[in-house]
Amino acid sequence: MNKSVVYIIYGVSGSGKTTIGKALAKDFKIPFFDADDFHPESNIKKMSNGFPLDDTDRAPWLKKMANEISDWSTKNGAVLACSALKQKYRETLQSIDSEYIEWIFLEGSFDLIAHRMEVRKHHFFKKEMLVSQFETLEKPKEGIVINIDKNSDEIVNEIKSKLHTNKSQLGLIGLGVMGKSLAKNFLSKDFTLSVYNRQMDNYEVDVAKKFVSEQPDSDDVLGFDDLQSFVSSLEQPRTIMLMVNAGKPVDLVIDSLIPLLSKEDCIIDGGNSHYKVTLERSKRLAKHEIDFLGTGISGGEEGALKGPSIMPSGSKKAYDTSGLFLETISARDKNGNSCCTYVGPEGSGHFVKMVHNGIEYAEMQLLAETYHILRFYAGKTPIQISDIFDKWIENGLKSYLLEITSGILLEKEGDDFLIDKILDKAGQKGTGGWSTNAALELGVSLSTISESVMARNISGMKSERVEASAIYQLKTTTIALDNIAFVESLEKAFKATSIINHHIGFELIKEASKEYNWELNLSEIARIWTNGCIIRSDLMEQIWELFFNNNDTSLLTFPDIVTIMKPRVTSLSEIVSIGLKAGFSLPVFSAATNYFLAYTSAQSSANIIQAQRDYFGAHTYQRVDTSLDQYFHTNWKH
Ligand code: 6PG
Repeated sequence: MNKSVVYIIYGVSGSGKTTIGKALAKDFKIPFFDADDFHPESNIKKMSNGFPLDDTDRAPWLKKMANEISDWSTKNGAVLACSALKQKYRETLQSIDSEYIEWIFLEGSFDLIAHRMEVRKHHFFKKEMLVSQFETLEKPKEGIVINIDKNSDEIVNEIKSKLHTNKSQLGLIGLGVMGKSLAKNFLSKDFTLSVYNRQMDNYEVDVAKKFVSEQPDSDDVLGFDDLQSFVSSLEQPRTIMLMVNAGKPVDLVIDSLIPLLSKEDCIIDGGNSHYKVTLERSKRLAKHEIDFLGTGISGGEEGALKGPSIMPSGSKKAYDTSGLFLETISARDKNGNSCCTYVGPEGSGHFVKMVHNGIEYAEMQLLAETYHILRFYAGKTPIQISDIFDKWIENGLKSYLLEITSGILLEKEGDDFLIDKILDKAGQKGTGGWSTNAALELGVSLSTISESVMARNISGMKSERVEASAIYQLKTTTIALDNIAFVESLEKAFKATSIINHHIGFELIKEASKEYNWELNLSEIARIWTNGCIIRSDLMEQIWELFFNNNDTSLLTFPDIVTIMKPRVTSLSEIVSIGLKAGFSLPVFSAATNYFLAYTSAQSSANIIQAQRDYFGAHTYQRVDTSLDQYFHTNWKH
């Protein structure tokens, strides 16, 4: 069982144990107890008659409190005010449970305390006993010492700051795969950490405790399954990172935390939350003056452990306080700087992470299409395709996703390739679809990304696909002759498609930045995506440089990109037409080609759309031969 701290405030009578103890308990939101309330009747009588207690009187009283302390520590902890003047009394108090006791000694001069005793009324302790108290007092061996020559607020603050040395710098809630890896990452960077995981019978049992016991440096980490004790174990202002499943679980945790937190504490949501929900959560927490950093984190389990790319957003003040934790554990760019930057106001970090995932979806689908056509049109084996991908990496197409795909293709199970055993039905948690919705709301094209989402949706219709395939019996064709030229053309089309996909993703970020006044820095976003994240690549390094001081330029119009694209345009159309003709579905290649041809066409087909709209709905149209603020309607049916 996880235990909570019991704070024992001790010192001679009149030193302020009750006042300070109550204030501290209120601050920590834990119960306060006064040792005097545990005296047997006989002791109280003796004291109020002016007789000092002897050790025989004290023994059962101290023993009883040792039991109470042990009990409180199994609950939420407590503050106990107790004189505990002799070392042996203190030893009795901690005889059952010493590990969870924090000793706080209130020290003051005889004159100061005597003066306070004079103004203190209706107490059974007589001032004359102070002399004997000072004689009995043995200087403390344990805990912290606080001089009481100041007001109670100052004393409480001093206690808190001295206790901080024993408190964790950071808290993390949720020890799933990502949470555990991030926790290990924080510990490897020498932060002290408290971790919390819920307790669920037969399902999540003692997760935090087990995690602590597995850590080589377990002195730096405290584990809890009680939220209040977890919160009490943190330095203030507190920084608490949530690594729980996006959606309702985040709100449940936030709701439980709100009553336990204080002004200026900061919650970091490191999950893939929707940016609009993050905005709502920020507003809700702001009402309690609690800071909130909605933070995108990319890199999967390994990234979380060794250094992810981190996209935090929220108030700058909160970032200045809590951002250091994130910057320290993140990946590094080629100059050694952190792949974590303050992205912008509330919601923007999760928006940027959402688009990261959108780009990721399309890059993954692009690789899937490339593999598929190489395997089933060009007749290559998985090993040959892996070799081709490795050559592309050498040729400047290096990316994390290309590298892992090359590795995936080499994986065997006995004589079989593992890839052939994996069901062709893609899962998704929603971020690609959210990007598509955002593009629809903002009125921009997201064709490569939306097509990759739709491709996953169609892949999910496995039984319908099998049935339709039996009905139509369509045949795919394979390449007849030497396929070197085809592979070269495919490489060109692959690179061009990837550039178009990145252009599309950054255009969405740019539009959202304008719409929501986020003032996002595209170069910084590309920079923190150069390492740690899933879409890190040579291309991302180039994009970082291109956007530097050119935030408003569109990727496809940079002269360096035009130079890369021009010799590849023919390959784009060629691969799409060869592939479709041979019977292969190529949604991302096709979407990229269509986008590019439309984007680079001065004259589109939309004049027909406008005429149709005006024909059946009198929606009006603008003309090429008049000013654009004029709208026209034609009576088409005359
Ligand atoms: C990352 C990943 C990560 C996760 C995706 C998977 O950047 O580390 O994108 O966030 O793997 O959410 O999403 P799907 O399950 O939707 O493919």
